[in-house]
Amino acid sequence: MVVAIDGPAGCGKSTVAKILAERLHLTFLNSGSFYRGITLALLRAGIDLKDEQKVLDFARGLNLDYVNSHLFLEGEDVEDLLHTDQVDAYAAQVSAIVPLRHIVNEKIREVTKSLSIVCEGRDMTTVVFPNAEHKFYLDASIDVQAQRRFNQGVSDLSLEEIKESIRKRDEIDKNKAEGALKIAPDALYIDTSHLTIEEVCEIMTRKIQN
Ligand code: DC
Repeated sequence: MVVAIDGPAGCGKSTVAKILAERLHLTFLNSGSFYRGITLALLRAGIDLKDEQKVLDFARGLNLDYVNSHLFLEGEDVEDLLHTDQVDAYAAQVSAIVPLRHIVNEKIREVTKSLSIVCEGRDMTTVVFPNAEHKFYLDASIDVQAQRRFNQGVSDLSLEEIKESIRKRDEIDKNKAEGALKIAPDALYIDTSHLTIEEVCEIMTRKIQN
């Protein structure tokens, strides 16, 4: 079984996907981790992100793995290094490179081959798992998105700067040549701006179990 969830940054999809996976005994897959992990590796290697050919050659040679919902780069668990301001700032740009998306999609399908999963990202319901049994699109207003990131306490940016960075990121994510963030016609749309995590999970669980 595949439960696929898409939505912009800060709509709460990671949090609810984790909870649902636990309640329904499914494996949680955060597809953004793959783009973030590749971005981290590129930054560490000092590769010019505008040089697409170099980025692709580098990404093709990377040993990426996903074990127990943690991303591994060359055998190193980098899960705790994926949400810095620097990775945040560049992951959208890296994920806009079309052939790189193909590398990631192939990897995601490979690591989830024989699993029942709850996955979340930007193109889970549209490109990666178009035949998912359950599809959701979570949304939130830009103010709520920024406030949630601010409240996480992991950013050195001001609330206004966070808002600007999310706006830029969502703009790139919605206008990608492939894998752009959009609402699948058969997805349930949920605006989470004024809902608690528990309320969102409740709506989704009811839909899945119906
Ligand atoms: O969900 P996230 O914020 O961890 O995603 C990080 C970046 O990767 C973000 O810019 C969107 C992009 N992404 C994507 O293009 N496709 C996905 N399936 C998941 C994430």
